Order: sequence, then C-alpha cells, then structure tokens
Amino acid sequence: MPRLITLGDPPSSPLPEGAGSRSSKPDWVQANPASIDRALARALARSGGGWYAVDDRRMIRERPRAYTIAGEELVLWRTPSGVVRAAPEACPHMGASLDCAKTRGDNIVCPWHGLELGSRPHGRWRERTVHDDGVLVWVQLGEGASASGSSDREGVDETVTDAPILAPRPRPGTFLSGVIRMEARCEPSDILANRLDPWHGAHYHPHSFARLVVLDDDGDVLTVRVAYRVAGPLAVEVDATFHCPDRRTIVMTIVDGEGVGSVVETHATPISSDRCAVIEATIASSDRKGFGVARRLAPLLRGMINRRAGRLWVEDIAYAERRYALRQRARPRLRVVSGE
Ligand code: FES
Ligand SMILES: [Fe+2]
Repeated sequence: MPRLITLGDPPSSPLPEGAGSRSSKPDWVQANPASIDRALARALARSGGGWYAVDDRRMIRERPRAYTIAGEELVLWRTPSGVVRAAPEACPHMGASLDCAKTRGDNIVCPWHGLELGSRPHGRWRERTVHDDGVLVWVQLGEGASASGSSDREGVDETVTDAPILAPRPRPGTFLSGVIRMEARCEPSDILANRLDPWHGAHYHPHSFARLVVLDDDGDVLTVRVAYRVAGPLAVEVDATFHCPDRRTIVMTIVDGEGVGSVVETHATPISSDRCAVIEATIASSDRKGFGVARRLAPLLRGMINRRAGRLWVEDIAYAERRYALRQRARPRLRVVSGE
C-alpha cells in the first residue's frame, strides 16, 4: 500500500489485530449481500414519521419552488418573516402551476386569475406541514396524517411524529454545513443499501478514501476506520459509525479522531415509483480554535464540501441505479403466448 501521511487527531485506539491486514478477509468476502440485505430490511421496517426531506433550507426563498415528493407535486416558499410553507403546486381554480407564482405577504398569488392562497384551505387545496431543522426543510405527507396518526405513502404504516426523526447533530451555532441534492433512477432503498456497504469505499472511490476498514458490524450499526484523502498522500483518519434512524435516512457520525460529533446525513426521498432524490447534509464541527475562522469562511468551504459530496454521489448514484436496474431485470415478465 502506498505511504499515507495522516493529519489531525487520529483515532485513540490502534487498529485491532488483523483488521486491514493481508490476513483479514478480502473486502468482497466481507461485503456479504445477505447481511447487507438484512440490515436494509431492518432500516426499512423503521418509521419515517411521515416526514420527507425536501432540500437545503437555503434553497427555499420567497419565490415558490416546485418539488415532487412521493408523487405529490408541491411548491415551497419562504414568507417575509422567514417561515417556510408548502402547498399543492396546482391552483385549485383551473390548475395553473404555482411554481414561480408571485407572493403577497405570507400568501402566493396564482399567475392565471390572481387567486390568493395561503393558510386558509380552498376546496381540497391546503397547506402541508413543514419542518425547518436549521439545515434541511421537510414536509409531512398523507391526507389527514396528523389526525389519523399514520401515513402509508409507500405501503408501510408510519407512525406520524411531530418532527422528523433526526440522529444527534452538533449543537446549532457550532457547525459548518453543506447540502447537496441529486436525483437518481432507483428507489430510496438503493440509496440506503449503497451506504450499508462501506466495503466498496476505498475500491470504488480511491480519489476520496485512501483506506477503509470495517471494525464492527452489529447488524444495526457499522463502525469503520476511514482515511479521507485531503491531497495526494495526505489524509485524515477517523472512526465513524453508520446507522439508519429512519427508513429513508442513513447517518455517518465521526466517533473518534478529528471532528468527533460531525455527521453526514444521507436522506433518500422518493419522487415517483422509479425516481428518488438524494439529499445529503454534511454537518461538520471541531473543537479546534481555527474552526471559528473556518465557520466565517462558510460560503467558500461550503462549495468545497458540496463538490466532494457531489463527486462521491455521481459514483454512488451509478451504484444505486445499477442495483435498481438489476432488480428490474430479475422481475418476472408476462409471457406472450402465440394464438396458434
Ligand atoms: S387557475 Fe389559478 S386563479 Fe385561475
Ligand atoms: Fe460510495
């Protein structure tokens, strides 16, 4: 293996005996498809609370913006007081698109005949419940979801929760965050499955990971030691866990080494039956004195964080789409029987 120069605080414990050495099993043997599928099945059995990650909160501005979430076409906009709102994208009068509609105060105004819409329902048109967690914006779907206490958009009964089910994050005001949103032709489960297979990391993304060893896999939490490339042989090595707090999210948390407590949240939001969005939030924190300066350079660093995340996801979307395509190929097809 080429020489690696690690920067920053390393993990406090040495690599366990045998881990990562030539005597350990090769990655392709450790990446056991059956155990990855079992971990995925456990994740998919969890509730999502009826919540769907939509996008970076910074992307929602005064001008309404359209998104399709689990087949539902919505517009989201920000009121003058900074509150994010969401509602059906089609005007209840004659169906005009409210994407890019004008706003008036807290309301939106249909471009065709000027109907002003807001918190008051208009027929079946009514606002959706929104949550702004300080990094991402979420919507809760399901007609009367709050009243019935369950939402079954994807054929799974979800107990509706007051807010999205989030894994612990660094404290507000102490972190630097970046968010990317990309779309893929696959199902949310394919996005989770990609991250439940960390064994591909150093093989498939050698530009980003110099070394990746799985330290533990208890079925629900994977612990890895990973060396992220900074430049050439320079890398930062940390211990991190992967777990799924809900059925559409997988979170990587740094648990030892530089940046303990930093997280990368990967949310997979269905768009339609064969498309989904990957919304990934990198939320980095550090005890180092210089991190305060880094936070002041947030706009510059955010671009770098997002470029790195985007580069990985170009490849990981190819992985997820391949998984989906193989599953589609394997589905039984109707046999056409000749009339003769
Ligand atoms: S279509 Fe919106 S007001 Fe007529
Ligand atoms: Fe990957």
